[in-house]
Amino acid sequence: MARERFRALIVQEGVPGAQLRELEMADLPAGEVLIEVAYSSINYKDALSMTGKGKIARRFPMAPGIDMSGTVLESSDPTVHVGDSVLVTGCGLGETIWGGFSELARVPAESVVPIPEGLDAQKAMALGTAGFTAMLCLQVLEHYGVRPGSGDVLVTGAGGGVGSLSVALLASLGYRVTAATGKQALHERMKDLGAQSVVDSKEIGGRPRPLESARWAGAIDTVGQPTLPAILSAMNYRGCVAACGNAGGMELHTTVFPFILRSVALVGVSSSQCPRNERLDAWQRLASEFPLEKLASIVDRVRLEAVPAVCEQMIAASTSGRTVVDLTA
Ligand SMILES: NC(=O)c1ccc[n+]([C@@H]2O[C@H](COP(=O)([O-])OP(=O)(O)OC[C@H]3O[C@@H](n4cnc5c(N)ncnc54)[C@H](OP(=O)(O)O)[C@@H]3O)[C@@H](O)[C@H]2O)c1
Repeated sequence: MARERFRALIVQEGVPGAQLRELEMADLPAGEVLIEVAYSSINYKDALSMTGKGKIARRFPMAPGIDMSGTVLESSDPTVHVGDSVLVTGCGLGETIWGGFSELARVPAESVVPIPEGLDAQKAMALGTAGFTAMLCLQVLEHYGVRPGSGDVLVTGAGGGVGSLSVALLASLGYRVTAATGKQALHERMKDLGAQSVVDSKEIGGRPRPLESARWAGAIDTVGQPTLPAILSAMNYRGCVAACGNAGGMELHTTVFPFILRSVALVGVSSSQCPRNERLDAWQRLASEFPLEKLASIVDRVRLEAVPAVCEQMIAASTSGRTVVDLTA
């Protein structure tokens, strides 16, 4: 039985910031599956939404939070059962569908993923959209033939959520990873996650020539401007870049040379819209292939009340790793 009242962080159109509110069941928008949320996590998109720096929510009032894990309390869909331990990432959460910064949420059955064996609700959110995106980026590199023996793989924004998890995932699979971070203090941590080498982000940005010396077999870029143009110009022949972020900027100034002279592949990754069969597959792979023991050093845990402050810090680029939101506390 669902509780009568619950707490949620709420954003309203035209009102700056988010408010922690106590709501009633009648305030919760309709949906096929009612979830008692145990954990959520804070992603860059959430920080944009919570601080008003980006237009993420498209229905109001809205609970932000693009990730959630918890237990099914009610379901009108025969494939999702009461008592199931589930996770949801992306799929419009916090945009058009009530998100995870709420003790209760109703979501479409299509978006619900059973938590795979090997993970639990908390670990699922330590990974969350960031880990899911890291896996999708890895799959892009694999699809384009990048293998552990292919050469160096660069991860930018390596101190952040997607970046840290990408470094750990690639390294555990035997890739030789170079982590690019703007934070000197994180160099040791990057090594602990398995990076072979660590470079300052400034070394990757700058104004590249149309083609630089070939350096990278693969890359996962979370920054966009200014790193992506520099990465493209330094890719090996038939190298592949999985581009998933714009933490540094959304513009892309490059030339066609990396594509027509080195057959470089630039592939975009959108985790939010990933089809269900691929979503299930990626989560299974995360459960069996991600080095879960690496999570302890990069995951913080906060309560709902602390989410607005963490989001401000994330926009100021002063967070690192992953932040799990504990709604059981
Ligand atoms: N396409 C998708 O499906 C998808 C999914 C998840 C995230 N994303 C995007 O991926 C990016 C990272 O997301 P996240 O959740 O991992 O965020 P995050 O934890 O805040 O990490 C972002 C990292 O980017 C670097 N960074 C931030 N501001 C920068 C700047 N001005 N110039 C250069 N580097 C900067 C920092 O890396 P260092 O600490 O190493 O300096 C920071 O830790 C965001 O743009 C997000 O929107 C996309």
